[in-house]
Amino acid sequence: MKETALITGASSGIGLDLARLFAKDGCDVVLVARSEGKLRELAAELERGGGVTAHVIALDLARPDAAEALVQRLPGDVDILVNNAGFGVAGPFVETDLAKELEMIQVNIVALTELTKLLLPGMIARRRGRILNVASTAAFQPGPLMAVYYASKAYVLSLSEALANETEGTGVRVSALCPGPTETGFVAAAGMVESKLFDANVMDARSVAVEGYRGMLSGKTIVIPGFRNRLLASGYRFAPRGLITKVVRGIQERRGD
Ligand SMILES: NC(=O)c1ccc[n+]([C@@H]2O[C@H](COP(=O)([O-])OP(=O)(O)OC[C@H]3O[C@@H](n4cnc5c(N)ncnc54)[C@H](OP(=O)(O)O)[C@@H]3O)[C@@H](O)[C@H]2O)c1
Repeated sequence: MKETALITGASSGIGLDLARLFAKDGCDVVLVARSEGKLRELAAELERGGGVTAHVIALDLARPDAAEALVQRLPGDVDILVNNAGFGVAGPFVETDLAKELEMIQVNIVALTELTKLLLPGMIARRRGRILNVASTAAFQPGPLMAVYYASKAYVLSLSEALANETEGTGVRVSALCPGPTETGFVAAAGMVESKLFDANVMDARSVAVEGYRGMLSGKTIVIPGFRNRLLASGYRFAPRGLITKVVRGIQERRGD
């Protein structure tokens, strides 16, 4: 049976590669982001492959009414929801721009929660569906010098794990994808070009998307792409929190700090 996947943040990076994977398996897609031109290019590429329909909905998920507006524009039922759109803001909390951080909370947390709230009941009624929320390895510990972003991803992970539990036996599976540093538009958008975090062991977006896609299909609750990221995430989970917070601060600092 033909399925439809709604992917937010499909105009670049991990979301774009996830959209390609869904389309390759014959799934219709609804592509969401602000950059309409990029979404249309991707839709044309996916439809050229044959057998899939790609819908484009260009909107700003930082707007408080965005999730509701998006759901009203959907072409039909959504079988798979991928809450991938998100961005980071870097810098000491006392210096970062509040307006930008509130926008980030709106995209990373509020829109994700609202879309899940609006689409999950239909999935449960149909007794099938999947939700893939893109969190981060940042979700596992506090992140000095990027405090609100790390906290937003801790929310995404916690919500996803709780919903995975609540939906057991309903035919719906909820997964959280927790990538480590990945080469995408994220670094520039977060103002992290100088950060040591992206100096080494950076994954490419396609490898992250492939692991996320496979993990979601196999019904895993938490998917951490890359052996090194899995190792670090489990180490961080069991090490003293104060120590880990200091380590993360060191990694978040800019080169030369
Ligand atoms: N890259 C990393 O190192 C990394 C690590 C862990 C987790 N993640 C997470 O992975 C997810 C995808 O990010 P990425 O790394 O692929 O970065 P990216 O290349 O910058 O992609 C971010 C996507 O989100 C969309 N987006 C951002 N703000 C939006 C808004 N206000 N309204 C609608 N769409 C918006 C962007 O589209 P438009 O600009 O066209 O709107 C873009 O398609 C994010 O949730 C990020 O937090 C990334």
